[in-house]
Amino acid sequence: MPSLLHAQTRFVVIIWLLVKGLSTATAQDADPTLGQAIYAENCVECHMEDAGGDDVAPEIAGIPRNNIRRAMGGLEGMPEFEMTTEEVAAVHAYLRTLDD
Ligand code: HEC
Repeated sequence: MPSLLHAQTRFVVIIWLLVKGLSTATAQDADPTLGQAIYAENCVECHMEDAGGDDVAPEIAGIPRNNIRRAMGGLEGMPEFEMTTEEVAAVHAYLRTLDD
C-alpha cells in the first residue's frame, strides 16, 4: 500500500522537523543581553569588563558552558552562584561575544 507508506514517511519527517526545531530554538533562546546584565552585576569585579581576567581571576571570554556550570558551584577565590540553566546559557552567550 504505497499511500500508507507515504503517510508514515510524512509523519516521521514532521516529527523530525518538530524535534529539530525545538532543540534549535532552545539553543538560540540563550539571551546575551540577560547574560550581560548578570555578568555586570556578579562577575565583572573579578573577571573584568572584557572577561580577560586579571592577576587573580582567569580569562573567561568564550569559555565552554560546562566550565561556567562547574564554576557556579564555587571555586578557590570565587564565591558560589545559584543560577538556572537559562541564566548559565545567557552568561555563556554573552561571554562568546567577548571572545576575539
Ligand atoms: C571574587 C572574585 C570572583 C567573582 C565575583 C567571580 N569569579 Fe569566576 N573565578 C574567580 C577566580 C579566582 C577563579 C579561578 C579559580 C580556580 O582556578 O580555582 C574563577 C574561575 C572562574 C571560571 C573557571 C574558569 C575555567 O578555566 O574553567 C569561570 C567559568 C568563572 N570563574 C566564571 C564566573 C562567572 C560567570 C561569574 C559571575 C557569575 C564569576 N566567575 C564571578 C573569581 C571570581
